[in-house]
Amino acid sequence: MNAVVVRPARRRDAAVLVEMMRGLDQEIRSLGHKVEDKITKETLLTDGLKREGWINALIAEIDDAPVGYSAWYRGYDVEEAVRQLRMADLYVRPAGRRRGVAQALVAALVALGRELGVGEIVWNVEPENAPSLAFYERIGARAWTRNRIMYLKLAEYRP
Ligand SMILES: CC(C)(COP(=O)(O)OP(=O)(O)OC[C@H]1O[C@@H](n2cnc3c(N)ncnc32)[C@H](O)[C@@H]1OP(=O)(O)O)[C@@H](O)C(=O)NCCC(=O)NCCS
Repeated sequence: MNAVVVRPARRRDAAVLVEMMRGLDQEIRSLGHKVEDKITKETLLTDGLKREGWINALIAEIDDAPVGYSAWYRGYDVEEAVRQLRMADLYVRPAGRRRGVAQALVAALVALGRELGVGEIVWNVEPENAPSLAFYERIGARAWTRNRIMYLKLAEYRP
């Protein structure tokens, strides 16, 4: 089996990243959730893949072909006084699964986190996403039970 190589995504990876992001959207749709393919190469390049960007990514390759990615941004937990890496996405192409690609992506994210003085990685997962939950359990992750994720669309803000 050929080795998995993980490297930071560059701006020229935007198109392949968007293709894989849409693959992830498709998987989430297959779980019964409404997800639209809103990300485009242009929005990704405007918002990320650069210093001080809102989103960055790591790409996993086998024989120089992209097989998966994780997307991340910076976060902070004030109560715990700890720097966080927020994992926006984790995806491995179906043909590349169960070969340790996700494990290599998370290992690279952990290494990046250590470099940045980060104490934890945080992400969301759909409760029906059994393969992902099995993977996350395998790597030692836990679910928060004491709070819920909330969001406010700025267009819906009631001052
Ligand atoms: C979840 C996902 C990222 C795992 O990627 P992967 O590269 O296949 O995972 P790995 O090969 O690194 O798996 C490592 C270990 O995790 C566990 N694991 C991974 N996938 C699993 C599955 N489908 N069922 C049970 N356990 C699984 C196993 O312990 C596995 O070790 P093993 O193969 O020696 O048994 C991949 O299935 C995926 O991309 N799913 C669709 C997208 C998605 O749902 N992403 C997460 C959104 S929150």
